[in-house]
Amino acid sequence: MPNELNCTKGDTPKDFITLGIESSCDETAIGIYSEKLGLIAHQLHSQIAVHNEYGGVVPELASRDHIKRTTPLIQSALKEADIKLSQINAIAYTGGPGLAGALLVGSSVAKALAYGLGIPALSVNHMEGHLLAPLLETDKPSFPFVCLLVSGGHSMLLEVQGLGDYRLLGESLDDAVGEAFDKTAKLLGLGYPGGAVLSNLAKQGTPNRFIFPRPMLNKNTLDFSFSGLKTFAKNTFFEHQAQDELLNTQLKADIAHAFESAATDVLLAKTKKALMQTGLKTLVVAGGVSANQPLQEKLDLMAKDNHINTYYPRLEFCTDNGAMIALAGHLRLIQGQRDSDNNINIQPRWALDSLQQPLKQYPAL
Ligand code: KG4
Ligand code: ZN
Repeated sequence: MPNELNCTKGDTPKDFITLGIESSCDETAIGIYSEKLGLIAHQLHSQIAVHNEYGGVVPELASRDHIKRTTPLIQSALKEADIKLSQINAIAYTGGPGLAGALLVGSSVAKALAYGLGIPALSVNHMEGHLLAPLLETDKPSFPFVCLLVSGGHSMLLEVQGLGDYRLLGESLDDAVGEAFDKTAKLLGLGYPGGAVLSNLAKQGTPNRFIFPRPMLNKNTLDFSFSGLKTFAKNTFFEHQAQDELLNTQLKADIAHAFESAATDVLLAKTKKALMQTGLKTLVVAGGVSANQPLQEKLDLMAKDNHINTYYPRLEFCTDNGAMIALAGHLRLIQGQRDSDNNINIQPRWALDSLQQPLKQYPAL
């Protein structure tokens, strides 16, 4: 009987190729993952230029841009992989969480293509994509591990026992840490998206000129709270604002430094606590904020002292990308998991710990 790899006993297994489509927010991205060769293409179009003048993502503009970009990007990805559309065996697309209109674009393209080609489609949880992104690297983590999952919309600590086996240990009670970076950057006039820009400016900051609070650090919980930090940044700015532009530029750098130190200290302390509580020796850090250099340095130091192995995605796969959606979908599709109908279903809110566990673990992991 043919298995999910389309081969009978004795045959050389045929390849199984998954096309991944990401359109949950402000990046249109495509990935192609081959069972035999791993990642064979990834293409991304960023909408920064579309939203920049508004200081944040405008959902309607995001949807319209995804409509323009998705099909040409699929064509570029096929070209990069040097394969034809007919060689694709399955389609994975981001079904949530994310902006409803934006998700609808990716899911409509995915479902229409899958229907036309007569192949399965599968809705993928965007946060599961982030969580599994380090598995795209040659030096990959193995289960079980603790995952610090930090993006623009979520801040979570999870105990990960296997694919789809996610136990939430703690999460942000208000703003996600990426959101706090973005809001603080905005009030300092650094534009959108602010996280990386704020972090860059923080390098010029005077250490310890300002000491920001470390929210929830003394509470016996793995939950976070970041919304107070941006208010602290705002008040500090207005208290110390000067007439002199040069002084104000330094003030902004000092505030950026104080904010980043506080936010990363809290992430470090809670992550260490999660590792101690679970007794696990592997740490995965993923999502847009995992690109933050001071965070990586602090975590690496703590990991070294405690004999923990730490894994991050490569820089371009810390933030949104299509490769992680192709991989996350592939790991499930290869085991026969697929959408049960041809309807276009999206889940703008979709909790990670509600995901289904596939019947068996993927053999290569
Ligand atoms: O994962 P992601 O690309 O999109 C979401 O799923 O939300 O994460 C984007 C978030 C933004 O809030 C962005 O400011 C933040 O990640 N980010 C950073 C850095 N690079 C991106 N935050 C701090 N430092 C960075 N270097
Ligand atoms: Zn994301």
